[in-house]
Amino acid sequence: MTSGEVTIGTFVDAGGIRLVELHPGEVWDRPLGDEERALHAAFNEVLAAGEGYPQAGPISRDEFVAYWLTGKSVVMTAWTGSGDSNELVGAYYLQPNGFGRAAHVANGGYFVSAPWRNRGLGGTLLDHSMTVARSRGFDALQFNFVFVDNPARRLYRRKGFREVGRVPEVIDGADVLILWRSLADLSPPV
Ligand SMILES: CC(C)(COP(=O)(O)OP(=O)(O)OC[C@H]1O[C@@H](n2cnc3c(N)ncnc32)[C@H](O)[C@@H]1OP(=O)(O)O)[C@@H](O)C(=O)NCCC(=O)NCCS
Repeated sequence: MTSGEVTIGTFVDAGGIRLVELHPGEVWDRPLGDEERALHAAFNEVLAAGEGYPQAGPISRDEFVAYWLTGKSVVMTAWTGSGDSNELVGAYYLQPNGFGRAAHVANGGYFVSAPWRNRGLGGTLLDHSMTVARSRGFDALQFNFVFVDNPARRLYRRKGFREVGRVPEVIDGADVLILWRSLADLSPPV
């Protein structure tokens, strides 16, 4: 398991944010582990609020496995507390955005649990994901379904993403944006 400590000023009251990488492997035929179930529950809260993702509402265990675990290059979870008081506060995934010669571009998905927003955690996860993507051999990061009204657009812009495309009438008649950022400015893979 690859894990790391990310402790920035605003998170000191939480004892720091601990990042834990999940290694789902083949998950279709086994029960989910505690960390995976916590991720499923937290993601369903984001969906129930209609925030940022195309799913219309809470998703089943199998839909969660397909969306968050199957075929992912990285599944990173963020936690506060320890022992019985562990709380999942956010997560991201990375996967190839395309096959074969297009697989050098990563695609990612992010969320921060509502009580933890606007404290820099989303930006911290995004920074972390870019470094990890680079270290795993990706040289660019692309988002395919950024809602035009998602406040995360400001965050992405600040982190160097460019809006490179707009696809009409994707989500309930609303357009979605494609954002892209080269990762060439980050340390190359060792
Ligand atoms: C998008 C998301 C991950 C951002 O997470 P976050 O933890 O709120 O992100 P940050 O705190 O780093 O940045 C958000 C804002 O807080 C501000 N902020 C950062 N640190 C701060 C701090 N210490 N105190 C106050 N505000 C702060 C940032 O300036 C930013 O402002 P902006 O609205 O002008 O961009 C979160 O809102 C989320 O999970 N949304 C629902 C799911 C979603 O939309 N995911 C993205 C799909 S494309």
